[in-house]
Parts: sequence; C-alpha cells; structure tokens
Amino acid sequence: MIDIFSRRRSSRKFQNRPVSVEDTESLVEAALYAASSRGIRPWELVVVSDNELIGALSKVKKHGSSFLKNAPLAMVVLGIPEESDVWIEDTSILSTHLLIEAEYLGLGACWIQIRNRFDAEGTPSEQVVRTILEIPDSRSVESIIAIGYKDGESEPYTSEDLHTEKVFFQKYTR
Ligand SMILES: Cc1cc2nc3c(=O)[nH]c(=O)nc-3n(C[C@H](O)[C@H](O)[C@H](O)COP(=O)(O)O)c2cc1C
Repeated sequence: MIDIFSRRRSSRKFQNRPVSVEDTESLVEAALYAASSRGIRPWELVVVSDNELIGALSKVKKHGSSFLKNAPLAMVVLGIPEESDVWIEDTSILSTHLLIEAEYLGLGACWIQIRNRFDAEGTPSEQVVRTILEIPDSRSVESIIAIGYKDGESEPYTSEDLHTEKVFFQKYTR
C-alpha cells in the first residue's frame, strides 16, 4: 500500500488518447467513497472530457493551469458550503482519492487549485469555471484534477525524500 503513495507524483504531460470508460468509472467510484464529516458528502463532481470545455478550463488561472489543455479528462470538484462548514476538508479528501486512484490505474494526475485563485484578468477562477460549466453560485469550486495516461514518468519518492524532522512522538520537541 505504501508503494502507491511513493509512486504518486504530479503528471502534467499526457498521451493523446482518451481515458477509458472503465477507468473513468473507477475514478468516480473512488471519489464517491471519500470520508466526509458526519457523512454529509457536501460535494459534487463534474466529469469533463469535451476538448473545447477542457481548453476553456485550462485558462481559468493566470498560472498553473495551462497544461490542462492537453489532458483528456478533467474532474471538477465542487463543494456545497451551505451543507457543511468543513466542505473544504471534505472536498480535499475527495480530490486526494482521485489522485491516488489515478496512480493505482496507471494514469497520471495533477491537482489544479481553483479556490482563492484568479485568471489573467483578475476574475476569480471559481467564477470562470462556474460560467464555463454552467454551475450555480451555491457551489464552490475547490479543484480541477487533470487526468490522463502519463507521457513520461517522474521518479517515485523514496524514504530519503521524507521530511521525518516534521514528526514528533508524544510531545512536540523542536
Ligand atoms: C492543494 C494543491 C494545489 C495544487 N495546485 C496546483 C496547480 O494549480 N497547478 C499545478 O501545476 N500543480 C498544482 N499542485 C501540484 C503540486 O505542485 C505538487 O503536488 C507538488 O509540486 C509536489 O509534487 P508531487 O505531486 O509530484 O509530489 C497542487 C497540489 C496541491 C496539493
């Protein structure tokens, strides 16, 4: 199990082929198994494979989203703040499930931060995503997870990459 965590690296380059229906279904299933406070599940997911929509989504941030234009699949993670005050935690867990399931399936993935980010004109990225995908204002957009078959591999992490100095036992002892 630890292997999957060490092998998971952000992928920003993808092969030019669609993610299979089976893999897409597995990703959605993995996302929906995410833990949430009080089991409220204050989230929704928009699965986008349409090239034009993905192209538009790749421009929703000034920095750090342009690589999305070459991804065959974008999973847009929505939070429902009126349902839970910890929707950010809950949507983060769901986003993480997508990253780990992608690695498990041999796909590459990368988190694109949307909440608190802006496009090149200074418009909130959340608002731009809402307009492109016709999402109601009651939904927040936490992240877009870009997914595809990897074009090239990043080195897996090893135990030497671990910041073990950040871990304390019993009491904080820095
Ligand atoms: C909350 C969060 C937001 C991120 N936002 C972006 C982003 O907007 N664009 C991007 O290219 N990568 C983004 N990343 C990926 C990080 O840059 C990446 O995880 C980090 O550099 C460590 O590399 P690794 O994923 O290969 O371990 C984000 C990751 C997290 C967890």
